[in-house]
Parts: sequence; C-alpha cells; structure tokens
Amino acid sequence: MRIDIITVLPELLKSPFEASILKRAIDAGLVEVHFHNLRDYTTDKRKSIDDTQFGGGAGMVMMIEPIDKCITGLKAERHYDEIIYMTPDGETLKQGIANHLSLKENIIILCGHYKGIDQRVRDLFITREISIGDYVLSGGELGAAVLCDSIIRLIPGVLGNETSALTDSFQDNLLAPPIYTKPREYKGMKVPELLFGGNTPEIEKWREDQAYLRTKERRPDLLED
Ligand code: ADE
Repeated sequence: MRIDIITVLPELLKSPFEASILKRAIDAGLVEVHFHNLRDYTTDKRKSIDDTQFGGGAGMVMMIEPIDKCITGLKAERHYDEIIYMTPDGETLKQGIANHLSLKENIIILCGHYKGIDQRVRDLFITREISIGDYVLSGGELGAAVLCDSIIRLIPGVLGNETSALTDSFQDNLLAPPIYTKPREYKGMKVPELLFGGNTPEIEKWREDQAYLRTKERRPDLLED
C-alpha cells in the first residue's frame, strides 16, 4: 500500500511514522508513506497557499492551484483508489472505514488548514471526506496520523499476531473485554479464577459476555447499529 499525504506542516506529521508499529510496517516494505509540502507547489515568491474568502467572512481559505498541481502530478504517476480530505464536516471515522481503506492500493490524504479548502478542490478531486470526531483541530495533520495508524495496523503482516486486530474493540461492534496478566493477585485484587482453568470454550463465553456487558454500559449506541 502507498499513502501520499499533502500538508503544509510535514514536520507535524512525521514522528508517528518514525516509531513503533508504523515504522516497522514501513521498514518491512508493507506500506510506503510520502509527504508532500504544499508550499513546494506554489507559484508566487511568498509561497502563498491561502487567501481571504470571497463574500467576506473570517478565516483564510486554502487555494485550489497548489493543491491541483500536487494532486494532478500524483495522479499522472499512478491510479489512486481514494483521495481523502480530512475535515470536521466529513463522515466520522469508524473501524469499518479503516478496514475498508486497509485493502486499498494507493490513497492520497489532504490535510486542511485555516477555514478549509476552496470548494472546487472538493468537487474536482476528493472522493471521501473524513473527520476523526466532533471537535475542531487546528489542521488535518493529527487526523491524518490517526487515520493512517488505524489503517496501517490492519495491513496483513503489520501486527505480529494476525488475529490480534480481529479481536480489537469495534471489530464486531463490541468493546473489548477486560484482560489480565501476571501477577495472579496484586494488592488483594484477583484475576477472575476461570481464566486459569484452561477451559477454552468457557473462557470464550466469559469474554463474549464481558464484551457485551461493557458495551451495554459504556456504548449502548453500538448495540443499536
Ligand atoms: N481538521 C480539523 N478538525 C478535524 C477533525 N475533527 N477531523 C479531521 N480533520 C480535521
């Protein structure tokens, strides 16, 4: 898989890809991540990427020309399955979207800034608009990092244990059940006895029940879907 990220702040985005699972995935050649600084696609000497809004109103708007140059250049080199714009008015990121995108070959992620981007960019290029939640960030970069992490960990071979992504919270619309490790008892707090018995069907049943109870208590909305 190849991900091209278009941003005015590449330095804000790079560190998540230089550590942990994302770095391992890149080093293993399972994913390529390329950063494109929008200022490299400007034509004036001030390297402007934004301007005031037609019709008046507070806040600057990212201009179409540098974005067009960047995206058109990328599209000339390969086919892209999705061109995603990170924006608070997009569809909210859910596990199902991450699952879907993890199967794609090439995607572009465009990070917005200021008030947003010229509507014509959205009309012309964007195939999908994604928000990471109902709050406004100062730019799309942190959202893009979240989206990339949620996608890349699902690419086969990225996680050590292939089954572990399948047992994550949300994969079956349920939250994950409680988990424990050594010691068996800590400051009087005991691990549930049945987890030591080796009765796999009984343990599975307990985990399913716990996942359901936790979901019912914390996220009843998930049970309605
Ligand atoms: N840019 C600003 N706020 C955002 C959000 N909530 N999700 C994605 N991109 C954003």
